[in-house]
Amino acid sequence: MISAFKTLTSHRGSLAVVAAAILPLTFAGPLAASGEEDDHGGVHEFHETMEELGEHTQRIVSAINHENWEWVAREAEAIAEHPRPPMEERQRIMAFAAERKAEFQEYDHEVHAAAAELSDIAAKGDGREVINAFARLQTTCLDCHANFRDDFRQHFYMDKDAH
Ligand code: HEC
Repeated sequence: MISAFKTLTSHRGSLAVVAAAILPLTFAGPLAASGEEDDHGGVHEFHETMEELGEHTQRIVSAINHENWEWVAREAEAIAEHPRPPMEERQRIMAFAAERKAEFQEYDHEVHAAAAELSDIAAKGDGREVINAFARLQTTCLDCHANFRDDFRQHFYMDKDAH
């Protein structure tokens, strides 16, 4: 046990070194210019959630390739049950969406529904149906992005003086 623990900690130590080396590069992206790369314009949790959704969908692709339908079901369920950002952020986002608030919420709702459907279908193990359901899920992500992503980024990440 002790030696396993040691291996783990030394492994962690080296990971930390690697992370320290990589982080400055990651933050040297376009957002660094705003000086607020860390807080994502007050919608940090929302942004984190999006990155997580992206990771879940990537794992779904892997799971499909491995024909591991249980894994697909788990990842889809995680999307269907993804946490909502804190109240404060939701209010900021709703203020941004303004008269398109209902539309924004509808896209969110569609993602939850499509992910829940994918999870159910994956549990039955029909690969072709799983792929169709996954395409429907990806389409719901795409629809919201097509309608909101640019404006959202403009509003929260670039247009610092406007509010
Ligand atoms: C209700 C609208 C909405 C839905 C639904 C939605 N997104 Fe997003 N997503 C956004 C907005 C707005 C942004 C831009 C904000 C940002 O990048 O932080 C974004 C950004 C992203 C990003 C980019 C993050 C980055 O680092 O640039 C990823 C990845 C992402 N979404 C994945 C997904 C996936 C996968 C789904 C579906 C399972 C999904 N989103 C559904 C609104 C949505």
